[in-house]
Amino acid sequence: MEVVIQPDARAGSVLAARLVAKQIRNKPSSVLGLATGSTPLALYGELVRMFEEGRTEGHPLDFSHATSFNLDEYVGLGPEHPASYRYFMQKNLFGRVNFKLERTHVPDGLAADVEVSCGQYEDAIREAGGIDLQVLGIGGDGHIGFNEPTSSLASRTRIKTLTEETRSANRRFFSEGEEVPRHVITMGVGTIMEARCCILLAFGAGKAQAVADMVEGPISAMVPASILQMHPRAVVFIDDAAASRLKRASYYRFVFENKPSWQRY
Ligand code: PGA
Repeated sequence: MEVVIQPDARAGSVLAARLVAKQIRNKPSSVLGLATGSTPLALYGELVRMFEEGRTEGHPLDFSHATSFNLDEYVGLGPEHPASYRYFMQKNLFGRVNFKLERTHVPDGLAADVEVSCGQYEDAIREAGGIDLQVLGIGGDGHIGFNEPTSSLASRTRIKTLTEETRSANRRFFSEGEEVPRHVITMGVGTIMEARCCILLAFGAGKAQAVADMVEGPISAMVPASILQMHPRAVVFIDDAAASRLKRASYYRFVFENKPSWQRY
């Protein structure tokens, strides 16, 4: 696992955006795995900025041949619900760059048959050729996607029940008095692990313990993100605060500062 420590969330997000942009420029038909929540907002903002800047300068960051699959969605929320992840993606990325809507996928929160719909989501990822680059956040409890602690490390897209901790962390996205759904559809840990490259972003002291457990702790279903230790290409972008509990932080900084030029972001 490569750990990139930057002074703040903005710097980490800019580096992560460069990696996504490089992926798209090298392979315009890339399949991207995308995440929601507060963390990837600056990354998406930077991609939008690069898209706009490229357009005026004649070398656009072109998403029109790309395909995307989002990690998760709330059961019971449709695309018009402001807290749904389809709505989030439309507002923060899809509607602001030139993604072809029909090539963007978010699990169907209104599926009549959740199990069938989850199987179809897995099939669609496979038919698209698999995910080239997966963007991830991490929950304070070490979840990736909505794979809460004790999720099978081999799991596939399925329904999950959120922990109360996650429901209360996400309450801020819902209007006052509105219930946060208990159930979600999420790609499984096994689904995520099949992406050819995973980039995980985490910022702020609230993520420091989860980051330390993920990077330096034992691999355990209690910290689903720790399975990324087994991924051949996982890059973690964090800020100083999120790095504050890492034992080997100075080594990760040294590695980054001494990257050969061809390996830089
Ligand atoms: P956040 O969520 O980006 O809103 O902190 C991350 C997550 O729960 O995976």
